[in-house]
Amino acid sequence: MSILKELELEIKNIVKKAGYEVDILAMEESNRKDLGEYQLNDAMQLAKTYHENPRSIAEKIKTELEKNPHFENINIAGPGFINISLSDEYIVEILNRMNQDIFSNIDKKEPKKVIIDYGGANVAKALHVGHLRSANIGEALKRLANLLGYKAIGDAHLGDYGRPLGLVIKEIKDMYPDLPFFNDNYQGDYKEVELPITNADLERIYPLASIKAKEDETYLEEAREITLKFQQKERGYYDIFKRIVEISKEDIKKTYDELNVYFEIWNGESDEMEYFEELQKKCEELNVLVDSEGAKIIEVATEEDKAPMPPLMFLKSNGSISYDTTDLVTILEREKTRKPDEIWYVVDDRQSLHFDQVFRASRKSKIVRDSTILEHVGFGTMNGKDGKPFKTRDGGVMKLKDLINLVYEETYKKITNESITEAEKPKIAKQVAIAALKYADLLPYRLTDYIFEVEKFSDLEGKTGPYLLYSTIRMKSLLKKSNETERKVSKLKGSIEKEIALTLLNLPVILNKSIDTKSLNEIAEYLYKLTSLYNKFYADNKIITEEDEELKLSWITLTDIVCKVNLLLLDALGIVVPDKM
Ligand code: ARG
Repeated sequence: MSILKELELEIKNIVKKAGYEVDILAMEESNRKDLGEYQLNDAMQLAKTYHENPRSIAEKIKTELEKNPHFENINIAGPGFINISLSDEYIVEILNRMNQDIFSNIDKKEPKKVIIDYGGANVAKALHVGHLRSANIGEALKRLANLLGYKAIGDAHLGDYGRPLGLVIKEIKDMYPDLPFFNDNYQGDYKEVELPITNADLERIYPLASIKAKEDETYLEEAREITLKFQQKERGYYDIFKRIVEISKEDIKKTYDELNVYFEIWNGESDEMEYFEELQKKCEELNVLVDSEGAKIIEVATEEDKAPMPPLMFLKSNGSISYDTTDLVTILEREKTRKPDEIWYVVDDRQSLHFDQVFRASRKSKIVRDSTILEHVGFGTMNGKDGKPFKTRDGGVMKLKDLINLVYEETYKKITNESITEAEKPKIAKQVAIAALKYADLLPYRLTDYIFEVEKFSDLEGKTGPYLLYSTIRMKSLLKKSNETERKVSKLKGSIEKEIALTLLNLPVILNKSIDTKSLNEIAEYLYKLTSLYNKFYADNKIITEEDEELKLSWITLTDIVCKVNLLLLDALGIVVPDKM
């Protein structure tokens, strides 16, 4: 139980001693710290239950509170609001407990098993800005969930089953018609055949093929046929498909690595298709598949629907599998192999209809236990200054690698620390760039669209990743300079230290809000608040040269706690702190 929870429990018991029972304490942080740090609003509610004047209830609670050394400055305002502050001794005690163990102020959740689906990169296509948000939010949610006691794992769920790959193979076939992959009579081992294609080639081939398909019906038709061929594991076509997946996957992994994003499961849609027959059988047994003009669909609309709810396309009339079905089959696979308590899909909010259909179809076909929670954790778009989804200068979709480079160029310029050698600079500038990008992406509530401004978010001042990194590194170096082995808080001097302590005490509230809303904005804001408070304290005091030894040690310990919380939360956001910058 967190220290904050303990405190609430303690107050509840005090209220009980005064003769009243409350279920949930109505305690809030006060915005008039001069009147009291917290405000208790319970007397008004209790007045209704106990048919008593709220002011007299407040008086009785106040009398009990005054007996407890944890509280001071207790006063009653208005109809019965009780203002309270925490005593210095109690704050010192809280800080020492947090110094011993940060987890003493974190509430643990039930160890639920969660699969988080937050990859979705498409094989043979460059990752773009949209994939960035899935990766950033998903990775952070996974880290946060695990920090709070869940058992969460990430699934990259690569997009490798659709027509884009058919188009790419069609184009390669036109470029190299003599490749054995396209020769039915080839007797050798396809594994030994050289494929003269790199990932950079793939990224060029797909846009080219997709333009050709729009202009040329026969080209498109052949791409469709090829799609069906590799989906049906036809020799040669299936082999080249597998090779392309390998080439592309390696590059996708590199980009995710750079973003500090790691997946425990690297399945692609095509791997999930192993379960297709079983899925179809289950659907047939329950009679949920309906024939519709040669296709098979699942009706998912209900009478309560206010908006149109189209059916889920299970099998297209030409026998190919839709995106809907790849997600449906994946639910079956996850249920069978891992039995998760929950599955979270961190995917663009514009796909919400798709997930609604898939979730409904999975209930209808009973491929998932009723108790399994399926949730689409949607997000808004990252926009450019024009308020439209972030684009390249000529209006094209911005590749993720290009976006990272754009920020990198900016952060590179800003690294002026003389102790950093030219050789060290690129790596550090890259880490700072990723931090800038990630923090900017996690700062708004996830469903809100936001405008990404390269210069603003790379700045060393303001609500930015680089500001947090810079400040945290400075705390670390201060701690390095002070060589006390045993850290301890014994006294406090100014009101700012108290404010820092109260902010630290509030940590569990922030973590709970974040996990409940599955949004990292609370944590991002909190990091900024805590860091700015600390920096103000740092500017006001000369910590290292302080002559009062007890005070000096207390300040260093306070620095240590703030630093630990920063490191913990930055890590939860998936942000790496460089050694220097
Ligand atoms: N590959 C898809 C895309 O790029 C995203 C996949 C999202 N995840 C999922 N389980 N459907 O749009």
